[in-house]
Amino acid sequence: MSMVNGFTAEDFARLPAAEQALIARRARVLGPAYRLFYEKPLHFVRGEGVWLYDAAGAAYLDAYNNVASLGHGQPRVVAAIARQLASLNTHTRYLHEGIIAYAEQLLARLNAGHGALDHVMFTCTGSEANDLALRIARAVTGGTGIIVTANAYHGVTASVAEFSPSLGAGVPLGAHVRCVPAPDGGPDCGARFAADIAAAIADLAAHGMRPAMLIVDTIFSSDGVIAAPKGFLAPGVAAIRRAGGVFVADEVQPGFGRTGEAMWGFDRHALSPDMVTMGKPMGNGYPMAGVAVRAELVAEFGAKARYFNTFGGNPVAAAAGQAVLDVLGEEGLMANALAVGAYLRESLAAWAQGRGDIGAIRGMGLFVGVDVVDGTGAPDAAAAARIVNGLRERRVLISASGPHGAVLKIRPPLVFTRAHVDIFMAALADSVAAT
Ligand SMILES: Cc1ncc(COP(=O)(O)O)c(C=O)c1O
Repeated sequence: MSMVNGFTAEDFARLPAAEQALIARRARVLGPAYRLFYEKPLHFVRGEGVWLYDAAGAAYLDAYNNVASLGHGQPRVVAAIARQLASLNTHTRYLHEGIIAYAEQLLARLNAGHGALDHVMFTCTGSEANDLALRIARAVTGGTGIIVTANAYHGVTASVAEFSPSLGAGVPLGAHVRCVPAPDGGPDCGARFAADIAAAIADLAAHGMRPAMLIVDTIFSSDGVIAAPKGFLAPGVAAIRRAGGVFVADEVQPGFGRTGEAMWGFDRHALSPDMVTMGKPMGNGYPMAGVAVRAELVAEFGAKARYFNTFGGNPVAAAAGQAVLDVLGEEGLMANALAVGAYLRESLAAWAQGRGDIGAIRGMGLFVGVDVVDGTGAPDAAAAARIVNGLRERRVLISASGPHGAVLKIRPPLVFTRAHVDIFMAALADSVAAT
């Protein structure tokens, strides 16, 4: 199955012999399911702040990675992990001050806006978090049905891949899964989204199923980055609750301040989710993730099911997560994401003015989607791929997303500055002019 911005067999033939050899070795040991980015894959040996360095010492501007959200090799996070790993690393079956203090602070941040969440349970990956959210949703609702958006991605476990339509036709959706179109960002898209959810619930009922959950990536990353209009998610959430299901906000992408105006994507919609799943930037590279949940939802599940995750929520994870919260707050990175993100969108809009090949520019904070279109205004995936690869040649990293792969996905670390935006824009203009 092909992937947006994925390296292909045709690309292989064009590479120098040394790179072909490394790729062949990789394929031999990792097997056929892995993909590489770019027509000419990249091979980095070091990262610092917004920069990634290859073996020859060439610096690439990273405008794409949202795991190293505070910057690659963030010194305070690295020091916190190293300190904790050197002194103690056990698991959640021993009492440990660090994990409790971290959970208290995380919940306080989840509830500083519209959240009303009582507990947090720790996992190692976003996929595991969504898998656990599904178990809880099914236990509390008695339903089995799952509603997702048409090009959603929620992860890789057997149950979660079944509700990740962006994995393509080769990964079949579960018989209990219904897809609804992602909101298109138009003025009445909230009402339409709610109507589509109601229709999906009716279809589940026609097949003898009740819904367990509606799960949504609250910035719709793989559906093409949809952040506006504010509040459009609320009617859809009301619809799932009326039918006895719960609403899960997947914050793996927008969470931890990326939108700049709030810590979480759901806050933009003035929503109080039943569960929130999170991951990627949570440990700035240390693998940690989790599910926050309202107490009444998990009471019965907790009484019946024991929960233990060997690595999830261990003392090192707590130290990494705590350092992330500290740096995010003390270095004012949300305010930075808001200001620099606005400058990025303004710069893009000024450049796109009068161009026939660039459509809408969407997003919030440092999560931006740009439609690449052909002469008729239709999505142009080939042109988007040329831009992504052209930027890579100019040592700037982004990728593409959306159902057609024609949306430029720009998602730099939150420490991105206006000077970095200027470097990005110059490379973009040059790359487009050259194709
Ligand atoms: C919205 C969303 N949810 C869940 C996941 C899965 O997270 P992980 O790769 O940590 O399992 C991802 C990963 O890309 C994601 O983008």
